[in-house]
Amino acid sequence: MSKQELSPTELLSQPLTLPCGLLLPNRLVKCPMQETLAEAPFFDPPISKFKNLYGQWSESNYGLIITGQVQIDIRFLSIAGDVVCHSNALSSPHFEKWKEWAEIAQSHGTPTIVQLAHPGRMSPTGAGNRPSDMPALCPSSVPVNLSDKWLEKFAIQSLLGTPKAMDLQDIEEAIEGWKNGARVSKAAGFKGIQLHGAHGFLLSQFLSPHTNRRTDVYGGSPEGRMKLLKRLVTEIRAEFPAPFCLSVKLNSGDYMEKGGLSQDEALEQVRWLTTCGMVDFVEISGGNAEQKNSGLHRSFGAQSLTVAPKIKESTRIRESYFTEFAERVAQIPGTKCPLQLSGGFRSRTGMADAIASGACDLIGLGRTAVLEPDIPKRLLLNTEREDDEALAMPHIIKGQWLSNMIPIKVVGSGLPIQFFYFNMRRLGNGLKSDPDKSIPGLVISSIVETLRSGITVTLQRIVETLGWTPKVQKVE
Ligand SMILES: Cc1cc2nc3c(=O)[nH]c(=O)nc-3n(C[C@H](O)[C@H](O)[C@H](O)COP(=O)(O)O)c2cc1C
Repeated sequence: MSKQELSPTELLSQPLTLPCGLLLPNRLVKCPMQETLAEAPFFDPPISKFKNLYGQWSESNYGLIITGQVQIDIRFLSIAGDVVCHSNALSSPHFEKWKEWAEIAQSHGTPTIVQLAHPGRMSPTGAGNRPSDMPALCPSSVPVNLSDKWLEKFAIQSLLGTPKAMDLQDIEEAIEGWKNGARVSKAAGFKGIQLHGAHGFLLSQFLSPHTNRRTDVYGGSPEGRMKLLKRLVTEIRAEFPAPFCLSVKLNSGDYMEKGGLSQDEALEQVRWLTTCGMVDFVEISGGNAEQKNSGLHRSFGAQSLTVAPKIKESTRIRESYFTEFAERVAQIPGTKCPLQLSGGFRSRTGMADAIASGACDLIGLGRTAVLEPDIPKRLLLNTEREDDEALAMPHIIKGQWLSNMIPIKVVGSGLPIQFFYFNMRRLGNGLKSDPDKSIPGLVISSIVETLRSGITVTLQRIVETLGWTPKVQKVE
């Protein structure tokens, strides 16, 4: 039966076998989303919380789960709470946690892959175990610039500082970090990995002429800017052949930025990935924290649909924000691997239409998987629910006026994404998401949380100083 003859539910329920042979039971993918649940000093997978969070996703019939980003170097986190893959993970007690995580996520048969990341210049001082005077890394020493206003410049400089241009040893260390991440993921029982090349993180900093002004082999031309990603794909594939799944996530939005990628260069990067025969699927999403005055959440988009759109043959729904770019990618001749499109999907009909039109093969669900973690099973793949009621709740957050009022945009525009972190932490703590939480409510909760943990830490220090309990043994 052709795609056009299938109902939206049938289309989304179709299995897909990736080039590596991994069978995905359906087309809905839980997007990578950093959970902000790991704790200092080791930032290991927090198993008791992941039992709640990944336990829910695992029993909800996604076709694939991609974990939140795992940092490959404990010195460089993007936010306190990121999971870290330690360089000695395979031969240390950290490894048990990894095995447990793989088991929880796949306990109902959903294949799961680990997203491996390095934030590059997006690593704030204080996030990660590095001395306070050690700068973040970037292909070239280009600081993040969110605004020309002095207050904003001061805030961003205090938070992120000026990154150090990576030397060749830094690059080799990062490559080894990604390979170690792949080794640990495979040994733990995960089905593969995804390289995070989107959202302005290190790999995307290498791909963009705005942040990569190098003149050596890792820069200087479109070919040079691709060199690091090409090396990673080639070397990881050589070490981990099929059935290990290798995916790459890229941005479709970088080329919209002044001084960033041209659309042609972005397409060429995707063309190499989809035709090189080494990648099992490419995820395309939007968003870059540097997009002026937007912040990541807003650049992912938020629509106010209240009724699921009807599929008409003459008009495509274009619910996703990046369909146009994905359609250009899908037309690349010789494409050998499926595409996942993430960003803005809410209705069953919109998702099915993106697949039927040939724009993509897999549908990524990010914010929806936080607000309604069970949505594939309960609604989208449920044949008892009609198309016009198969619509996820909006991603619009209450009380956004507070974000708009805050004069320092880096703080104001960062608040909406905190709403989703907050809700993921609720899920991790065994609670339901709270879609009604407003931004002002969130700010009050985080002040209370900070005060409470401040008091706890102070009490712990007093207890330790008085010698009442043994100090934590360092594993690394
Ligand atoms: C709270 C939150 C955390 C995210 N963390 C990551 C991440 O770790 N890695 C990544 O590639 N994308 C991350 N994203 C982006 C999502 O994977 C996805 O591309 C984006 O949310 C758009 O999809 P949506 O419209 O369904 O939310 C994150 C998004 C949110 C809302």
